[in-house]
Amino acid sequence: MKLLAPSILSADLANLSQQIQLVEKAGADWIHCDIMDGHFVTNITFGPVLVEAARRSTDLPLDVHLMIKNPDKFLEDFRKAGADSISVHFEEVIHLNRTINKIKELGAKAGVVINPSTPVSMVKDIAEYIDLLLIMTVNPGFGGQTFISNSERRISEAVKLRDDLKADFLIEVDGGVSKNTITKIKNAGCDVFVAGSSIFKAKDVSAATTELKKLIS
Ligand code: DX5
Ligand code: ZN
Repeated sequence: MKLLAPSILSADLANLSQQIQLVEKAGADWIHCDIMDGHFVTNITFGPVLVEAARRSTDLPLDVHLMIKNPDKFLEDFRKAGADSISVHFEEVIHLNRTINKIKELGAKAGVVINPSTPVSMVKDIAEYIDLLLIMTVNPGFGGQTFISNSERRISEAVKLRDDLKADFLIEVDGGVSKNTITKIKNAGCDVFVAGSSIFKAKDVSAATTELKKLIS
């Protein structure tokens, strides 16, 4: 199963509903929501209110990526706003097993995110319990950055970890996904492809979505 998850970080938020409907019609599978608090990363985006607006714009699963301090405090808010999956950063959460259980108890899919400098092996003992492993392929904080070159190896390591453990989490990639990088990302074993600027900053948002979808299908 290969899924395309456009990130609304790069969308025209004055027309959020219309932008989401455009990508939905063009083949998007999930809608990725990047939550930044100005502390975990040096950028601020949006919170549950906007996720709730996205919820009213589509029935597609909303994939919420929390780049915030103390994510535990906000899990319930994002779930109530309509998040179908919630991913937290390995680098931020101390009691990760507890946090993952909490997300599942709330009825959402639970994900762990690793920054480009966090070894894939660090998630070994949580990997059996998660639904998603989100591998950052840029440093989190901003859209439009360049795909980091050792990321394919990291994706392959995640595939091996999943095989070794006989686990069944999806491998998601976030950052620098474009028509130029998506094929090698797919070949490395990625399941869920987050794409922000390559979709929403394109001249033709629908065409860009369709093209990426074709490349992963
Ligand atoms: C980066 C975010 C990404 C971002 C990707 O911190 O987590 O989801 O939207 O943007 P692009 O696709 O432009 O690299
Ligand atoms: Zn993201």
